[in-house]
Amino acid sequence: MGTKTALRAVRGLVMGVGLLLAPLAMAAGRAPTPKECAAHPANPAVKGGCLVIDRALGNCMACHVIAGTAMDGNVGPALRNLRQHFPNKQALFQQIYDPTIANPHTAMPPFGKDHILTKAQIREVVDFLWTL
Ligand code: HEC
Repeated sequence: MGTKTALRAVRGLVMGVGLLLAPLAMAAGRAPTPKECAAHPANPAVKGGCLVIDRALGNCMACHVIAGTAMDGNVGPALRNLRQHFPNKQALFQQIYDPTIANPHTAMPPFGKDHILTKAQIREVVDFLWTL
């Protein structure tokens, strides 16, 4: 194969990888838009972000600042750099499943224990939060 053909192959590969990564980048670092929620129904981190901003489900922005949302809730701390606050995803899962374990007097609802979100939904929420 000549140099030109090789270069063309490499360029094609780079573009292909870029296209594959584009949907993942959508949910990284901020809440997805409703349009992104509709466009990426199978991406767990996007789905988690959509659950977080759904007023009937997570509604997390009512109490927390979350990049990409306009509500700026200040009942709880801003949700960012969570990978530095939690040793792993399981610990973060626990905080959302039942925050009364860490703080019996918390204002945060126990989303798992009270069946507001399913375990599968909380795992998606954690996948999203891990990108913040
Ligand atoms: C009614 C208010 C309220 C709602 C709604 C709420 N939280 Fe919280 N959250 C809190 C408070 C208050 C804290 C601070 C810790 C405590 O008091 O237990 C907290 C703490 C946290 C923490 C720990 C943050 C850290 O840096 O240590 C995470 C993560 C979190 N919330 C995620 C969520 C997610 C995800 C949702 C939505 C599914 C949510 N919260 C909904 C009030 C709320």
